[in-house]
Amino acid sequence: MNAPAASHTLPGQPHIAYQNNGLMVEGVRLSDLAQEYGTPLFVYSKAAMLSALAAYQRGFAGRKAQICYAMKANSSLAVLQVFADAGCGFDIVSGGELARVLAAGGDPAKVIFSGVGKTRAEMQQALQIGIGCFNVESEAELDVLSQVAVKAGKKAPVSLRVNPNVDPKTHPYISTGLKGNKFGIAHEDTLRAYRHAASLPGLHVVGIDCHIGSQITETTPYLDAMDRVLDLVAEIEAAGIPIHHIDFGGGLGINYNGDTPP
Ligand SMILES: Cc1ncc(COP(=O)(O)O)c(C=O)c1O
Repeated sequence: MNAPAASHTLPGQPHIAYQNNGLMVEGVRLSDLAQEYGTPLFVYSKAAMLSALAAYQRGFAGRKAQICYAMKANSSLAVLQVFADAGCGFDIVSGGELARVLAAGGDPAKVIFSGVGKTRAEMQQALQIGIGCFNVESEAELDVLSQVAVKAGKKAPVSLRVNPNVDPKTHPYISTGLKGNKFGIAHEDTLRAYRHAASLPGLHVVGIDCHIGSQITETTPYLDAMDRVLDLVAEIEAAGIPIHHIDFGGGLGINYNGDTPP
């Protein structure tokens, strides 16, 4: 591909630019890096990551909020360290990812353990290091987690992932919060699942979570999901189960092709 001669940045990527026919990341010429380190070579912009994080931090300024980096985006230890140093928590789905958080100096109390396939060993490992919360995806998982916690002499902090059944208006393959998607507890089963969780000896109910999809470029689906989650919170609390936090995903989109994400 012929790069234009003039200096210009890529759409939505102020830290990546063409200059004098060369592609630069934060002012460093990629061809120089390729010569020094060989190819294939992965180059990430710390400034780009920190400015994306700063946008979230500005959005939540003055509110009691914890921003968690979804480890699946990129689990390079150097990348994790950048986010750990900036005070982020992490959204993980395996014991291996948990080990990476710890290696990068992340705070286990700010880690959310998501995912549909946690093993007993992983649950045990997460309990031992004092994980922030288990995001549980099914009633069967509640039973297993409670058994593991009782055996370890601990109470597992849990949140239930609910499926708010909203259309995130993104690509169907990366939508996660519609009824037909495999994730989360169906809206109509939520109260029963919370009662079940509250009755188990190894669990401490702390939150509720939802994730509606990725690459979302409009705010309406979030607002619809939040309305549904808040209705559920009211119902659950009316049943005598206090909810301490709402964990809200998924990901705001980026500009791939002239998209205008908020
Ligand atoms: C629980 C959870 N966290 C995080 C993500 C990553 O979402 P995103 O890439 O939109 O931040 C997903 C995607 O499915 C998810 O299900």
